[in-house]
Amino acid sequence: MAKQKPHINVIFVGHVDHGKSTTVGRMFFDSGAVDEQTMRKLKEKAQELGKAGFEFAFVMDNLKEEQQRGVTIDLSYKKLLTQKYEITVIDAPGHKDFVKNMITGSSQADCAYLVVAAAEGAMAQTKEHMWLCKTLGVEQMVVLVNKMDTVKYDQAKFNEVKEQLTKLLGSAGYKDVPFIPIAAYHGDNVVKKSTNMPWYTGPTLLEMMDLLKQPNRPTNLPLRLPIQDVYNITGIGTVPVGRIETGTMSVNDKIIIVPAREGKGIQGEVKTIEMHHETVPKAEAGDNVGFNVRGIAKKDITRGDVLGHINNPPTVVSEFTARIVVLNHPTVLTVGYTPVFHIHTNQVACQITAIKQKLDPATGQVIQENPDFLKNGDAAVVTVKPTKALVIEKNADIARMSKFSIRDAGSTVAAGMCIDYVKKAL
Ligand code: GTP
Ligand code: MG
Repeated sequence: MAKQKPHINVIFVGHVDHGKSTTVGRMFFDSGAVDEQTMRKLKEKAQELGKAGFEFAFVMDNLKEEQQRGVTIDLSYKKLLTQKYEITVIDAPGHKDFVKNMITGSSQADCAYLVVAAAEGAMAQTKEHMWLCKTLGVEQMVVLVNKMDTVKYDQAKFNEVKEQLTKLLGSAGYKDVPFIPIAAYHGDNVVKKSTNMPWYTGPTLLEMMDLLKQPNRPTNLPLRLPIQDVYNITGIGTVPVGRIETGTMSVNDKIIIVPAREGKGIQGEVKTIEMHHETVPKAEAGDNVGFNVRGIAKKDITRGDVLGHINNPPTVVSEFTARIVVLNHPTVLTVGYTPVFHIHTNQVACQITAIKQKLDPATGQVIQENPDFLKNGDAAVVTVKPTKALVIEKNADIARMSKFSIRDAGSTVAAGMCIDYVKKAL
């Protein structure tokens, strides 16, 4: 059997229209994964729809509405094989109406390519996506400064964008981020080295893929698999799908999914595990899997429930303490506020029941006890009461299961992590 390459999930994020889908489409075309004829058809289709120039984007934007509007709406996934890795490439939408989909994608990603148009620099969703990546535990970040053709491949312009972005990334704790100047539409530095930018001597996008650090897979932690979707497949039965965040899962494992429909958890046994349309005996942290369980029906469980082993079930809480940073609230955040929390695959309205401490965002030191309100830029320790039972873990125990973002009226208001909780009895 051929030796399996390590698997890595990468996502393309950034402001609307900065060229994420075009970059991904160009990368697949220039590396031979999309043939000439397909590309010619996509070009004709783009012209027919009055969207000339979107042909590379159409490689990833398959929905009719996406092609007609020339925007990405939902996530799309495509596999890329490089020398070192087997890569799942995820193309995210940049439009602010679809941030929800971007969040789902980022929660599955190990690395993010932040695409920034050279002439525009950091825009609203450039910043929002960067913060969301940080909150959702995306460890590696690479910036692609795109559309270099529109600034005449100017090195000074590239450096200007690089300086602006380096500051922004630093504020979120992303250090030593590589920057690559590209013109995705024309193919500069995507797969082929650009002759238009002799001043750049670093890797192309494709070369960068193999320079990514192999993600640290927390296989030694307890099994946690947030359910993303549940199917009922004739002849097989209930097939939940999701990404294993921590631990490992094997066929015949005795598992529990909590809180589940009745709130008490439901137990079963893993019959089969499928990954990339192949049956495998075992899967581990970082793997996106579908699996079949004995003893659990489709109606018993739903998106947002979490699977673990029976002897170490995921934690269901009735209340938790969190550290948050307020990113974008229209006024001030006070006790009683009840926005939607996005936690792993779950979305639950939660009430802020106390603001315990205001912290210095840079050092984490307490600067005020029991403040009346929080405003943009403030960091704080708050108490949170979910409107229904949910699974979350402490950052110190299982970091990947502790992070969340808070959204309200179409924007990301805050991001944070759970540091303590009150367990709910099942
Ligand atoms: P959303 O997914 O909707 O957020 O957009 P996106 O970031 O995926 O952008 P997309 O790839 O759809 O490209 C948007 C527009 O930018 C299209 O008209 C592309 O042709 C154009 N574009 C992309 N890359 C380049 C480039 O390198 N140079 C120039 N001049 N235009 C580009
Ligand atoms: Mg797109």
